[in-house]
Amino acid sequence: MFNAMSAPKAENLTWHIGEVDREARTAAHGHRGAVLWFTGLSGSGKSTIGHRVERMLIERGAFAYVLDGDNVRHGLNSDLGFAAQDRIENIRRIGEVARLFADAGGLVLSAFISPYRKDRDRVRSLLPDGEFIEVFVDTPLEICEARDPKGLYKKARAGEISNFTGLDAPYEAPERPEVHLETVSLSVDEAAARVIHYLDEHNILGAS
Ligand code: ADX
Repeated sequence: MFNAMSAPKAENLTWHIGEVDREARTAAHGHRGAVLWFTGLSGSGKSTIGHRVERMLIERGAFAYVLDGDNVRHGLNSDLGFAAQDRIENIRRIGEVARLFADAGGLVLSAFISPYRKDRDRVRSLLPDGEFIEVFVDTPLEICEARDPKGLYKKARAGEISNFTGLDAPYEAPERPEVHLETVSLSVDEAAARVIHYLDEHNILGAS
């Protein structure tokens, strides 16, 4: 069986080191590359806040890009559903894509439920220290369900969707996220500003 977690299946591979290193990319972009990993329940606001941060970064001239759950599931991960193994593979692939973007010097904003702590930690381990920034979009289930922007909670309660995160599938909240957004008391702009503030404080923006 295909096992994505193991060493490469192919043999005779050589890792090629290019002529441009991270410092040169940082100098070219005017900021460091990093992965901002948004995690939270469906309807918590990950995408909305992520896109607002992306816009603020682009307005500052940064190289920023959102990887969004529903969009990636239309393409790269169109073969995956919501069973536990599929979610693990979903996050593994996205983690690798995010790593490539960050290596290219970009600020990647990933907006996936990513319900399992172990999978998020695995992505963290792919990146140099300080370049994986976990952003917990902490919106209580009752509020996500009341908002129900895509009508999915209603369908899940009616038994039309199974394995729905927060209902009959687990969500493991981060224990020590770099940024904790309690959205009940924050507007989208305020939440986005907190993320930008973190990047400023940790010398990710403006570093060269
Ligand atoms: S993850 O768990 O594998 O990280 P991902 O973020 O890619 O999930 O996709 C979540 C989105 O898929 C939700 O926002 C929702 O629109 C949709 N979705 C469809 N079925 C489910 C389900 N069973 N559980 C959670 N989200 C679902």
